[in-house]
Amino acid sequence: MRLGVLVSGRGSNLEAVLEAVAGGRLTDVVPVLVISNRPDVRALEVAERYGVPSCVLRQSDFATVAERDRQIGERLTAAAVDVALLSGYDRVLAPSFFDAFRGRTINIHPALLPSHAGRGMIGLAVHASVLAAGDRETGVSIHEVTHELDAGPVIAQRRLPVHAGDTPESLAGRVLAEEHGFLVETLSLLARAGPRREG
Ligand code: GRF
Repeated sequence: MRLGVLVSGRGSNLEAVLEAVAGGRLTDVVPVLVISNRPDVRALEVAERYGVPSCVLRQSDFATVAERDRQIGERLTAAAVDVALLSGYDRVLAPSFFDAFRGRTINIHPALLPSHAGRGMIGLAVHASVLAAGDRETGVSIHEVTHELDAGPVIAQRRLPVHAGDTPESLAGRVLAEEHGFLVETLSLLARAGPRREG
């Protein structure tokens, strides 16, 4: 499975995937391209360290969001990417992305979808929302990306208990640690499952 990864920042999930590939723990996945919407982010250093080609497609270099997102889709297609992973990508993709690259994009979200999702639900805000709701469980969701933010069908979830005394920071740390292994496992399953059958 040829993998393209969209990033915007820290890149710890990207790092977990590239580490697993380099360590022979994710043999069915070939990372072929990393695309960032921001220059100078750690995720680009991670890609370079593992020798994965990367590019930066800044919004300011394009007249419209639609043009930029079409370009992202076209780059993935040109690299013969099978599956695109949004790994800490901080923008909602425009319909033009899906025109260029359809039905094969997944995202990792640090909560149990459909809860704690949508606009503003990024970073510590997600975990603060879990605590404010009094939830006893949280987790990690991997889902298909559609036009609607965080609303595509869930592919896989892992649940984690919320502990008494948890803070947004403590929860963020535990969930992120779980994300790394879970993402690698899920990519491995997807790669072994092969191309998606319609329906
Ligand atoms: C992760 O928590 C992921 O679930 C969310 O954004 C964060 C990205 O972290 N979508 P990193 O850039 O992979 O370190």
